[in-house]
Amino acid sequence: MKILFIGDVVGINGMNLLRKGLPRLKQQYRPDVCIVNGENSNESGKGINKRDAQEIFGCGADVITGGNHSMRKANISFYEENEYILCPANLLYGETEYGVCHVDLGRESLHVINLMGVAFIENHRNPFFELDKILKNIDSKNIVVDFHAESSAEKYAFAHYADGRVSAVIGTHTHVQTNDDHILPGGTGYITDAGSVCALDSVLGVQKELAIEKQKYLKPVQFKVAEGPGYICGVYLETDKNGRTVKIEKIHEYLG
Ligand SMILES: [Fe+2]
Ligand SMILES: [Fe+2]
Repeated sequence: MKILFIGDVVGINGMNLLRKGLPRLKQQYRPDVCIVNGENSNESGKGINKRDAQEIFGCGADVITGGNHSMRKANISFYEENEYILCPANLLYGETEYGVCHVDLGRESLHVINLMGVAFIENHRNPFFELDKILKNIDSKNIVVDFHAESSAEKYAFAHYADGRVSAVIGTHTHVQTNDDHILPGGTGYITDAGSVCALDSVLGVQKELAIEKQKYLKPVQFKVAEGPGYICGVYLETDKNGRTVKIEKIHEYLG
């Protein structure tokens, strides 16, 4: 199976870049399934609402995943209504099922799981135990996990824990693509962070002046989404008939 995964799309600017970049990537890679992390896709740069989700699907996504901002513009019923829009399965106030979906392609099928780490980020149910619970109830050979987490150590530990049991663990949340895409010994494709879709001249998609003010003076600042040229980041995966990753390639494309 061919799978295209795109990292966090940040605000209006990220959506413009996604509109520009995703159809071309889909033409180039011809994926069976396309997954996009939409936790920052709202115009404000935080959260996702119905219109944002429709736009992302309109750009060519089949599944939208989330993270720590999933509930900023939506409540749990939003995730109940569309099984292909996920929020982390281990949210304390959510049900596991809202973080798991099944994409049926006839001959092949894929489960997508969205989980959040708990190190240096909000505290939710333990993602290791949550993964075990989910895997008991699903039977697809192809399983992709969007592991939305801050700590690279937690991401690596989680990926090795999942190795051989899922096709891929794709890290999201830091918005900066890491240079460690590879296949773990058990056949699980891995990258610590897929990166994001946002303006280059920014701090993780946020206007740089505002981010500097926050970091320098440690005061609360209302963030605004940075505008301008940027990049679309993600990974492309190919799995074999057993759902093991046989190819993983990171995508980091500048869009002027
Ligand atoms: Fe994000
Ligand atoms: Fe996040």
